[in-house]
Amino acid sequence: MTANKRLLVLPGDGIGPEVMREVRRVIDWMDHRRHVSFAIDEGLVGGAAIDALGSPCPDVTVEAAMASDAVLFGSVGGPKWDSLPFDKRPELGILRLRQDLGLFANLRPAKVMDALLDASSLKPDLVRGLDIMIVRESTGGIYFGEPRGIEIMADGSRRGIDTEVYTEQEIARVARVAFDLARRRTGKMTSVEKANVMQSGRLWRAVVSEVGAAEYPDVTLSHMYADNCAMQLASRPKQFDVVLGSNLFGDLLSDLAAALTGSLGMLPSATLGAPDASGRRRALYEPIHGSAPDIAGKGVANPCAQMLSFAMLLRLSFGMEEDAALIEKAVENVLAGGLRTADIMQPGRARVGTTVMGEAVVRELDKLAA
Ligand code: IPM
Ligand code: MG
Repeated sequence: MTANKRLLVLPGDGIGPEVMREVRRVIDWMDHRRHVSFAIDEGLVGGAAIDALGSPCPDVTVEAAMASDAVLFGSVGGPKWDSLPFDKRPELGILRLRQDLGLFANLRPAKVMDALLDASSLKPDLVRGLDIMIVRESTGGIYFGEPRGIEIMADGSRRGIDTEVYTEQEIARVARVAFDLARRRTGKMTSVEKANVMQSGRLWRAVVSEVGAAEYPDVTLSHMYADNCAMQLASRPKQFDVVLGSNLFGDLLSDLAAALTGSLGMLPSATLGAPDASGRRRALYEPIHGSAPDIAGKGVANPCAQMLSFAMLLRLSFGMEEDAALIEKAVENVLAGGLRTADIMQPGRARVGTTVMGEAVVRELDKLAA
């Protein structure tokens, strides 16, 4: 079978390379058992790219990403690069990829698996069956707005500046992604901002309302101030389905939503661009957890989020729903069977490392596909 699916794999730093190794096992399995082959290119990003090529996001990496159908990203950053100047940080690797590829819609599901119900910080009743999708704008807002910088004032003291700026086009296009998702889920969407204090928040609320009224009358839209949303997420999370927010608010709220599920090590994400004429979108998939330098290299990291990111890639970039669901089911079964990496360890379960977890998922895939 010809490899018509071009993947760029960017393991990055910290636990990135370790958890990515387990995904390669799944990819090999698919190759042998499902006769789906991928043309895989591997590239450098973050600290690894700084060390080898002097930049956190070298042009060759951006070019390879442009030439691929989808990017599977690990994680970037670590203490080794903490003292670099602001414009050389490993984090710029992911920020530049989002910008250069036009990946404006960051989808961050927070789903509680039954097997991990006890791992949540909330009482089981509050999170049982929880299934939230945070849609975060990811190429605009305060992350990129100008002016920005630290300037020296006339009296010699310093002033730090960031700018929150959104055009109505930027708001409308990410709102459409969220509305489309809401339509396919429970038909409920909550848009968050601070329209009570921010001008960009006023525009955000107005534009989301307009898009909703004109194009998605079937979706029930509500608006919430971002601070209230944080409080509601931490106290009554099941009221939410799709939550839409700016780059900054989405960043904060998606970490909060992730914490509700009990483990960052379990959560995948997708970041999508605009569809082209053929409906294809540029896309990058990455786990929510970072590079976790404290446990890197020890073989104890949880590979599930990276594997589930690959499942999301199959579903959203290649329409391979059945294979995506198979991987998700395999992960769930392995957890239900009692295997746990350190981050989700509970009394009475079997603690295993990265490789054993990865191998167990592949064995489960074998069983499910038999
Ligand atoms: C995330 C991270 C990044 C962000 C950092 C690493 C730049 O926190 O993806 O949520 O703030 O976008
Ligand atoms: Mg974040």
